[in-house]
Amino acid sequence: MQTVEQFHKELNEAVDFIKGQITFEPKIGIILGTGLGSLVDGIEMIGTVDYDKIPHFPVSTVESHAGRLLFGNLGGKTVVCMQGRFHYYEGYSFQQIAFPVRVMKALGMETLIVSNAAGGMNPNFVAGDIMVIKDHINFFPGNPLIGPNDGNWGNRFPDMYEVYNCALVDMARKVALEQGLRIQEGIYVGLTGPCLETAAEYRMLRGFGADAVGMSTVPEVITAHHQHNKILAFSIGTDMGLADSMHPCSLEDVIGTASRAEPKLRDLIAGCVKRM
Ligand code: HPA
Repeated sequence: MQTVEQFHKELNEAVDFIKGQITFEPKIGIILGTGLGSLVDGIEMIGTVDYDKIPHFPVSTVESHAGRLLFGNLGGKTVVCMQGRFHYYEGYSFQQIAFPVRVMKALGMETLIVSNAAGGMNPNFVAGDIMVIKDHINFFPGNPLIGPNDGNWGNRFPDMYEVYNCALVDMARKVALEQGLRIQEGIYVGLTGPCLETAAEYRMLRGFGADAVGMSTVPEVITAHHQHNKILAFSIGTDMGLADSMHPCSLEDVIGTASRAEPKLRDLIAGCVKRM
């Protein structure tokens, strides 16, 4: 188990390296999910830093994810965007998944925006719908906060009150309305993957109250909440996980649906950032 001192040493080395490449203080961090990489097109780019150059940074192994931090301006705000994220199913530990979120905070991040591809389980949804996440269920077999706690970063026992900032959820609703975009709201359940769910699992997860299911977001959000960031998160329902009407679902289907929904999510995120 890593000590607090080791953690700080690694964090400082990563942050110093990035600051040596680029002088920029991002207030907003954005983590882009599967098939959503081109969300960055709207960002006036200042510079990028490849993950594989940053000391102690994990390296993305999923083909549909680029692997770099992108710094720039969006809607008049300074942002850092993780193009490519780290999943537990790739073999990373929760500490490794948390590391980039800690790095973004150390660079100046106050608000984290997360997007993901997810299976829609609410029968009122259709594939391609965007859902603003109001709450989550952690079905991962762990938590990024397990291990020594640095009280300067956050509480040993953080409450999970309003993890997904209500004012930001409201804002997303308003921006969507202005843009003529129908969005859903609901609860995201995160679990390991890489299998999608069986019909019995979708039924169980729906019974637990979840509207969408995916393989990311929860560890990053717990980390960001622990370090007192505000959080706004969106799922694109890339396939429907309805226990009574299951059909085959390929990665191509997931990426295809995510890409088609992407321009809508890009405009929604840009509209929200502008108002922050
Ligand atoms: N289940 C879990 N993760 C997913 C799904 C799903 O149906 N679709 C996209 N990511």
